[in-house]
Amino acid sequence: MVKLIGIKKINIAVFISGTGSNLKNLISHSLRKKSRYKICLIISNNSKAKGLNYAKKHNINKKIIHYENITNAEKTILKELKRNSIDLVCLAGFMKILSAKLIKKFKGKIINIHPSLLPKYKGLNTHQRAIENKEKFCGCSVHYVNSKLDSGKIILQKKVRIFKNDTAEKIKKKVLKQEHILYPKAISKVIVNL
Ligand code: GRF
Repeated sequence: MVKLIGIKKINIAVFISGTGSNLKNLISHSLRKKSRYKICLIISNNSKAKGLNYAKKHNINKKIIHYENITNAEKTILKELKRNSIDLVCLAGFMKILSAKLIKKFKGKIINIHPSLLPKYKGLNTHQRAIENKEKFCGCSVHYVNSKLDSGKIILQKKVRIFKNDTAEKIKKKVLKQEHILYPKAISKVIVNL
């Protein structure tokens, strides 16, 4: 944590693999005057992730993790988390699964955003599966990360209506909009207990 004019700020690392629209949104929230957190580190398993451009733009440390060997990959991750004094890890479209060992080391300090109303539709292609099942609602969830995929305790959720002519692509856009409202709210809720 860094102390800024008497206010302790939480140091956050955001893990991404692609576009990074959630990352971009979290950075902009973190730059608000009253923000209680700072994005200090961006980690990606994908050196071509578009979201990595925000590191340079906002002068944030970044680290690309090579995943040929998960043990080595996670050793590097832990080293970076320590080096940057990270208090909270926010997964945002990170396409690798963290090991139980790493999660244990950061217990209660890793959260994720998932594009469905968990516990429904864990994993990939959530919107397409919701359409095929004729769901009336989809949405997004922010949850703590535990050793089972998309299964940790839910922090916040937001419902989004599915209309008759909605495609997975249309739903993705609607849900992403809500994700950008939900994730900062969930972080505010979580950091009170850190
Ligand atoms: C989001 O839909 C998030 O819920 C999921 O991956 C997507 C990441 O999008 N985990 P972006 O890279 O933040 O734009």
